[in-house]
Amino acid sequence: MTDAPSTLQVVPDLPRLRVIEERDAPAVLDAFDDDAMRRQGTIRTLEEAQNWVSFMGGRGERLALALDLGGSMIGAVVVSSIDQENETGWFWYWMHREHRGRGWMSRAAVTLADYALTDMFLHRLELGHRANNPASGGVARAAGFVMEGVEREKFLVDGVRVDVHTYSRLVTDPWPETQRLPLDL
Ligand SMILES: CC(C)(COP(=O)(O)OP(=O)(O)OC[C@H]1O[C@@H](n2cnc3c(N)ncnc32)[C@H](O)[C@@H]1OP(=O)(O)O)[C@@H](O)C(=O)NCCC(=O)NCCS
Repeated sequence: MTDAPSTLQVVPDLPRLRVIEERDAPAVLDAFDDDAMRRQGTIRTLEEAQNWVSFMGGRGERLALALDLGGSMIGAVVVSSIDQENETGWFWYWMHREHRGRGWMSRAAVTLADYALTDMFLHRLELGHRANNPASGGVARAAGFVMEGVEREKFLVDGVRVDVHTYSRLVTDPWPETQRLPLDL
């Protein structure tokens, strides 16, 4: 007797990177339902998520990638505010709360940073994170960024002034050994 064909979908054990698409809006809405995402903006409705997705999908001034696990978007890694004259870009990322702590964002960040500094011809990527968000600093260092300084008491969060740690990665910096993710562009 042979087994009946399985209808279970096999979820891969590693995300891949691809451009953000309109179908990602419900996943984005779910991801923003999280206190830790407050500094990323406010998305409370499907329409707001659709607007975010369609804005991020525009090419030119930014490249916004989804971390795709088995067809679902579980995070985003973005180079935005691209300044072609100075060959710089602003780098940022978020991961859905249920998928954090697996090293996937570090791998996604190094993959996009490499791409931005080669195929996109940028010279310098910049990022900043709140001092009380150590996971973001871990991602930055794993992606080859070097800490440049502290912007003291830059943000006012819930009545408390918070320092920001600033980082950059130059095309001439050593490439980190962090494993890369598959990139489908
Ligand atoms: C920041 C964020 C993307 C990190 O995602 P993640 O899935 O935890 O990232 P990784 O699993 O790749 O881990 C990154 C590093 O942070 C470390 N880390 C994770 N959580 C940590 C914590 N609470 N305290 C200290 N370090 C932590 C990990 O150990 C790892 O460091 P290592 O490479 O030295 O081991 C995620 O927490 C997030 O989306 N937060 C909300 C949005 C946000 O803050 N974005 C960044 C804005 S600047």
